[in-house]
Amino acid sequence: MKIGLLGFGVVGRGFYELTLSRSDMKVGHVICLEDITLPGVNVTRNINDILSDPEVDTVVEAMGGLHPAWDFVKAAIEAGKNVVTSNKALVAAFYDELLPLVQEKGVLFRCTAAVGGGICWLSELERVRRCETVVKLGGIMNGTCNYILDNMTRNGLTYSDALKQAQALGYAEANPSTDVDGIDTWNKLLISCNVAWGVSLEQSQVPAAGIRNIKAIDIAAFAEHGRACRLVSTGEMENGVISAYVQPKLFPVTDLEANVPANFNLITFEGSSCGRMSLYGQGAGRYPTAYNVLQDCVDLTRGNGFYSICTGKVNVCNDGKLCFYVRGASDAWLDSVTADHWGEGVITSPVSVSEMHAWCAEHPDVFMASLA
Ligand SMILES: NC(=O)c1ccc[n+]([C@@H]2O[C@H](COP(=O)([O-])OP(=O)(O)OC[C@H]3O[C@@H](n4cnc5c(N)ncnc54)[C@H](OP(=O)(O)O)[C@@H]3O)[C@@H](O)[C@H]2O)c1
Repeated sequence: MKIGLLGFGVVGRGFYELTLSRSDMKVGHVICLEDITLPGVNVTRNINDILSDPEVDTVVEAMGGLHPAWDFVKAAIEAGKNVVTSNKALVAAFYDELLPLVQEKGVLFRCTAAVGGGICWLSELERVRRCETVVKLGGIMNGTCNYILDNMTRNGLTYSDALKQAQALGYAEANPSTDVDGIDTWNKLLISCNVAWGVSLEQSQVPAAGIRNIKAIDIAAFAEHGRACRLVSTGEMENGVISAYVQPKLFPVTDLEANVPANFNLITFEGSSCGRMSLYGQGAGRYPTAYNVLQDCVDLTRGNGFYSICTGKVNVCNDGKLCFYVRGASDAWLDSVTADHWGEGVITSPVSVSEMHAWCAEHPDVFMASLA
């Protein structure tokens, strides 16, 4: 396998290093903006060096972002190259175009590192589908949020101190909004549902709420009631109808999720016969993520591409009702559904997920978490 590698940052460099001791693959070109030299590698800014090299059979994309990453990936597929990517934003945004193009051009595509970094989540989900129906999936998919929530809960840090610590350790970006507003988890949920059910979710119908507004007083109220907060994704399929959303959830302190430490991820599926199965590990980081990119490349050498055929757009229905903790606003609607008080927050009677997210969108300072 001769590889054209796009991007030489955290993941790209890690992947390159992991290939050095292998005889079954070699990075022949690297697209990189910096002036670096790598022995026996053509370091370039020109994608055409890769597209026009007939010996390159595989393009590994680790640049991130939508453009030019998607333009390069699309051009690579059109040129008949197999593609591996770790870019969740790209896969989630272009799923509808990507999968049909892969099929049309008869190339192979994998993106295991895009969800769960070093965890073999997507590759396992794909295996589950071969044998049975996925009933439910989701969990802790963002290490930055988990790091913040775990430190607020176990070490009594404020939100801003926990975020600063996450930034100092390189877990959070200078602008943390993709993580703390749930967008990263949302991208990962969309990809997971699409893979699990062979569909393409209508993205605008999948709501996401994050942890930006959480305060120490919320954490204290949860502890008093034996709960710990985690940001989780949820996807469910019942009678052909899919429900999917991202929101903070209050787990009993004895649950596995409540005990996931630091920046780890815990992602779970429920199969129709195998029951609950959870995968736990490093959802990010140079070598864990590069490991899954490498695994995808090995799969390609064996002819194993992702994924099952996408059967087209499906509607999402989030009419299921849950009780919520809400703090930070009050109005007639919230008063009408208030069933209890926890500290400065209220507990609602059962409210549909779609109704709660619509209300939160009108109240941007609110912190909300479901109880189940
Ligand atoms: N880091 C992780 O732990 C992790 C885990 C799972 C998935 N991912 C995904 O993997 C992808 C890469 O992440 P990363 O952390 O490796 O990012 P990164 O460290 O920022 O690396 C991206 C690299 O691509 C280069 N690049 C960007 N645009 C380019 C262009 N137009 N031409 C040439 N080079 C370009 C960047 O160069 P400059 O720095 O010069 O801009 C940088 O070296 C992202 O999609 C991310 O979501 C990352």
